[in-house]
Amino acid sequence: MAKIISVVNKKGGTGKSACAANLGVGLALMNKKVLVVDADPQSDVSAGFGFRDCDNSNETLTTLMEMVLNDEDIPEDCFIQHTEEGIDIICSNIGLAGTEVQLVNAMSREFCHRGWVWHKYKNRSGLFYKYGLLLF
Ligand SMILES: Nc1ncnc2c1ncn2[C@@H]1O[C@H](COP(=O)(O)OP(=O)(O)OP(=O)(O)O)[C@@H](O)[C@H]1O
Ligand SMILES: [Mg+2]
Repeated sequence: MAKIISVVNKKGGTGKSACAANLGVGLALMNKKVLVVDADPQSDVSAGFGFRDCDNSNETLTTLMEMVLNDEDIPEDCFIQHTEEGIDIICSNIGLAGTEVQLVNAMSREFCHRGWVWHKYKNRSGLFYKYGLLLF
């Protein structure tokens, strides 16, 4: 089952993106199966792995979160992209800033990621069983 690591700091410019990207690749080099989830609307980590046009993409964490908040079925692949560096990633885009605002009034918002992270958890075919590590 996957472990989850979140790289979080309220202060800007403290190395969160650099840490998440390097930790992800480092662990992949140690043969861990890593899914990086870019949860920053600036999408610096996505861009760092070559996904530079995320603001024009619907296949991001933003759409995934919208689907969860609207109680819609989420896609089988959860918009996961593969990288040359050996990690998988769910990209973000600027729309995630709006999702943050939407979440202010959402019921049980502290559990908002459960909708997709725990997808298919019960039949053991979801992300928790595909990856060794989920890195936010
Ligand atoms: N270990 C490090 N040594 C030297 N420079 C670093 C290191 N980690 C990050 N930096 C540099 O510091 C700057 C800020 O890093 P980064 O973008 O990762 O921070 P951040 O916390 O993600 O910023 P933001 O709040 O804007 O998302 C970048 O220019 C990055 O290259
Ligand atoms: Mg950053």
